[in-house]
Amino acid sequence: MMKTKMEEALSEIKRLFDVPVVRLRRLIAAFHDEMGRSLAGEPSSLQMLPTYTDNPTGHERGSFLALDLGGTNVRVLLVNLPGDGNAPTLIGDKFQLGREHITANGDVLFGAIARFVVGFLADHGLDGRYRMGFTFSFPIRQRSLARGELIAWTKGWTASGVVDQDVVERLNRALAKESAANVRVVSLNNDTTGTQTARAYLDPACDAACILGTGTNICYREMVANIRKPIGPYDHEAMILNMESGNFNAALPRNRYDKLLDDLSDNPGGQWEEKMVSGKYLGELARLVIVDICARGSLFGGRLPELFAVREGFGSERVCRIKEDADPDAAGVRALLADLGAGSVDVEEARAVREIAWIVSDRAARIAASALVATVTKNDPESTRSHAIAVDGSIYEKHPGFKMRMEETFGDLLGTRAGRIRLELTHDGSGLGAAIIAAIASGEGPVLRLPD
Ligand code: BGC
Repeated sequence: MMKTKMEEALSEIKRLFDVPVVRLRRLIAAFHDEMGRSLAGEPSSLQMLPTYTDNPTGHERGSFLALDLGGTNVRVLLVNLPGDGNAPTLIGDKFQLGREHITANGDVLFGAIARFVVGFLADHGLDGRYRMGFTFSFPIRQRSLARGELIAWTKGWTASGVVDQDVVERLNRALAKESAANVRVVSLNNDTTGTQTARAYLDPACDAACILGTGTNICYREMVANIRKPIGPYDHEAMILNMESGNFNAALPRNRYDKLLDDLSDNPGGQWEEKMVSGKYLGELARLVIVDICARGSLFGGRLPELFAVREGFGSERVCRIKEDADPDAAGVRALLADLGAGSVDVEEARAVREIAWIVSDRAARIAASALVATVTKNDPESTRSHAIAVDGSIYEKHPGFKMRMEETFGDLLGTRAGRIRLELTHDGSGLGAAIIAAIASGEGPVLRLPD
């Protein structure tokens, strides 16, 4: 039987987004090269940023505040670390930053964050003196646990006057301005590092962490002897390295939609892997595909529904809801699209939209899994050890089939040894991890001499 125009368009999309195992192996080899280059201090798309912290011992104890700046959702926590093998306890509140906070300037941004901390303390009647750990989910150039400069904004943040600034100092200053000098930021970490630390507090097999949310990134535990670039004084034999893997750009199977998305983005040329994998971009990729095949007359009779017309107007949570509909006639997708103002969409069209949602996110899962295989096999090439990887983020947690597709890809790449990699959902670990790192910085656990 002749294929319809729509079927032909979908076959082409499938082909463009397909990543066979040979491509993934090439990606892994390139990932290893980039890791090696960055560890040697040579130019690389991976940054392998020193964090000045190793996995915790689990004996860290005390009460610490934590500030988790992940995306526009900000969490403030008070964490009690028992240090005796029991799980930490915490109280925490969520706050919301607006677009005006993340796109204006540093004073506006840090002022808003400081007020969240003050509000949290007031709401819970907390009036003592507190040490705080700060999770800052962007690339930071650290020279010690207690300071670090923003290298570049990602995920659409653009607040001016923050790049190259010490974000701990900015936050301490903003806190003092809001009359919260009783709170002192004592440590800084990326969200990946926080997530690994939170998991490793109770699970010593955890040697890497991955965020698959609005952005994506991986950190892992590396022996200091393997870090050939200068890192300054540091007393442990291993350190967690923040790879900033979202910026990985070698041997990626990019197609014309990836290129278009990058050209139209706030940071063209940067974060290529992130743009194929993470929540800020999956909806946009699906939208660009829909716009294109509609323009070629293969979908919606060539008339694009308004909801697909706006850049970044079709979010990844919609891709997720579309995938959740398992009905053979895509009744759920039709209802959703109608709710969103697309009018009446026929069964074939709704199925096509659903197929695009799956195609785009299946590729994301395969690339994300390959980056993790590359991470683990860097120091364990034959996969002879077990690795627990702490994972957090809405894409991993909420997208139907995402974890399964990642595990399938482990199987494709590692065969029977795939079971040595354990993905462990570590929900909200980045906040908890910041408190544990604050304890480490305060000497409430393993002794760590700070370089300054
Ligand atoms: C940032 C990373 C962060 C990741 C996940 C990326 O855009 O560059 O630092 O870990 O998002 O939040």
